[in-house]
Amino acid sequence: MLQKIAVVGAGHVGATAAQRLAEKHLARTVILIDIVEGIPQGKGLDQWESAPIEGFDTRVIGSNGYEEAAGAEVFVVTAGIARKPGMSRDDLVKTNAGIVGSVARDIKRVAPKSIIVVVSNPLDVMCHVAMKESGFPRERVLGMAGVLDTARYRSFLAEAADVSVEDIQAMVLGGHGDTMVPLISYTTVSGIPITQLIAQDILDAIVDRTRKGGAEIVGLLKTGSAYYAPSAAAVQMVEAIALDKKRILPCSAWLTGEYGLNDVFCGVPCKLGRNGLEGIIEVILTDAERKDLHASADAVRETIQALG
Ligand code: LAC
Repeated sequence: MLQKIAVVGAGHVGATAAQRLAEKHLARTVILIDIVEGIPQGKGLDQWESAPIEGFDTRVIGSNGYEEAAGAEVFVVTAGIARKPGMSRDDLVKTNAGIVGSVARDIKRVAPKSIIVVVSNPLDVMCHVAMKESGFPRERVLGMAGVLDTARYRSFLAEAADVSVEDIQAMVLGGHGDTMVPLISYTTVSGIPITQLIAQDILDAIVDRTRKGGAEIVGLLKTGSAYYAPSAAAVQMVEAIALDKKRILPCSAWLTGEYGLNDVFCGVPCKLGRNGLEGIIEVILTDAERKDLHASADAVRETIQALG
């Protein structure tokens, strides 16, 4: 168990992440930070009041500043705005880069040894901003997207194959966007290649639905984006770090030559433990998968360029 985990942003993703962290007993204290007065305090207190029922001793404390998060071992960064009518994608990138950049500088100030798990969108670009502004090494700045995209993919596969979600092993690599790369070649059901259980046309449709998974939820909710699965995915990464599990999870990481990619954040299989990113696993890809991964990294680079 860690002493302190901080969650920045008390919106749906941040607040649900705080609740999941507490219910999993991953730290003594969870600090929920938001600039809106009362919201993090109210949500934190409400969650703490559920503790006697749910049986956790983790105290969730709301705050409008960073002082209470001093010395936190892990930060989950969910702060940022969603696109509103009339805003271009570049407007969103610039606004969120400003927010995430300032958050990263505050984190560096109060917890210079911490590990940052970025959740804000556009994900891979916000990881870039968080690493640059915190000055942290790549081992301590990771992005949550692959676990979410893989969970969506696994849930669709489990339904199609009529098997338990627990028995689906899979990986979705690449950036968190339409260019993400679900790896059919590494998808199995308890070790059985998925192609033996699901017809190719259905698999293709599942890959397509996975790529548009975030948009599917936005289309249904209309007033916001997904938060149950995103918060669960971020917490799975924190759990791997907090419990030093050495889990292999697809995460956005700063690449320095892996997969032939340099100086860009992109989703790849990562080993997560108490030191954060403890390794990147380079799996053998087909030519088409490798081409798709490079195209996905190019899309991340283009958004960074738009940022200027
Ligand atoms: C999604 C957004 C939150 O994939 O990135 O749901």
